[in-house]
Amino acid sequence: MVPGLLIIALFAAAVPAWGGGGQARQFCVLCHPVHYAERGRCVDCHRGNPASERKNIAHTGLREGKYARFTIGDRVQMKEGQRLLDLLACRRCHVIAGIGNSLAVNLDRSVSRKTAGEAALSIKRPVANMPDFGLNGGQITALVNVILFGAQGRETAETAPVRVHFNDSGKKRVDLFSKKCGSCHRMLSERLGAVGTGAIGPNLSGLLSKYYPGTFKNGEPWTAVKLTSWLKNPRQIRLWARMQPVALTAAEMKELESVISVSPKPDR
Ligand code: HEC
Ligand code: HEC
Ligand code: HEC
Ligand code: HEC
Repeated sequence: MVPGLLIIALFAAAVPAWGGGGQARQFCVLCHPVHYAERGRCVDCHRGNPASERKNIAHTGLREGKYARFTIGDRVQMKEGQRLLDLLACRRCHVIAGIGNSLAVNLDRSVSRKTAGEAALSIKRPVANMPDFGLNGGQITALVNVILFGAQGRETAETAPVRVHFNDSGKKRVDLFSKKCGSCHRMLSERLGAVGTGAIGPNLSGLLSKYYPGTFKNGEPWTAVKLTSWLKNPRQIRLWARMQPVALTAAEMKELESVISVSPKPDR
């Protein structure tokens, strides 16, 4: 700790009233060595309460070092986070950095209400309507850093009201999706909220939007026409598809489409 203490001592000597010139004193430096001072104040990167000498109060809403790496432009981690964000298509449900469907909570705003640790936990142990991606700690940390990076300056942006999705497992749904697809798939529908209870097939939220991964064939995105041909015979499209054909009338197909589709919104 000697070098750290030395830094504090030097720092204290050089800047007698930390943050003089009207800024409040930061008690963080009573217990911690100073670093990255040229890039900002402790709370710019770590949050917390700089006005208290007591650790538990000073650490209120603290952002641990590993979730602050985006502030120093860690390229490798940012690239990994971005890759996962695209691969797992988080934007089929969430707005992130102003872009994405609003089928679940807006993450730009969520990160100002919650700590980074809570966000990480939500990814590690997702609610029923969010897929469990089975990610490891490093991957989750990279994702949280990318979300925090994208949220900068957007934390209070005007957005659609936050939807909360209840898991009303007691009630039997009668909509077409629940009847024909819901035993194997789950989905967040703009019109109906959470539908389906199955986990055998992928979560189909945002299937007909541009944020769903291009899983149709050769990386192509899904469209209503392609979905119709898939339902007629999945094996015509994927040789080893486990899904059986589902027979729907033209009217049912229209109904299904309206449950799945997401109204396009301008990116913010
Ligand atoms: C009274 C002493 C004290 C004060 C004041 C204090 N801390 Fe800490 N801090 C600690 C101790 C001790 C730890 C070691 C981990 C623990 O016990 O929580 C720690 C850990 C941390 C960590 C590491 C967490 C991690 O896992 O990466 C960060 C970041 C941090 N403090 C930032 C701050 C900031 C920012 C402030 C001011 C807003 C502050 N601390 C104020 C004592 C303090
Ligand atoms: C520009 C952003 C930034 C600023 C400003 C900043 N930190 Fe950090 N801090 C980080 C990052 C990133 C880490 C993760 C480890 C690393 O990369 O150094 C970290 C890690 C830490 C840790 C964990 C121990 C460690 O070294 O890994 C503590 C404690 C800490 N910071 C306290 C502070 C305090 C106290 C201040 C204010 C004097 C401060 N930080 C200012 C970005 C910042
Ligand atoms: C199928 C839709 C869906 C997908 C895809 C999805 N999520 Fe979620 N996510 C949810 C739902 C539902 C919640 C619970 C909050 C709500 O009801 O809006 C949630 C909550 C969260 C939360 C906690 C937010 C809060 O304020 O409680 C985080 C963080 C999060 N998701 C991150 C991610 C990340 C990162 C990805 C991509 C790897 C992802 N999500 C993919 C549906 C989804
Ligand atoms: C008995 C279970 C079952 C039912 C019912 C079912 N599916 Fe599937 N579905 C699956 C499985 C399993 C997959 C995974 C791919 C595969 O191997 O077939 C799948 C894959 C899909 C895919 C491909 C998604 C992707 O990203 O690869 C779409 C689209 C789809 N189903 C739509 C539907 C729709 C719409 C319905 C209702 C009209 C439906 N499914 C009913 C089991 C089912």
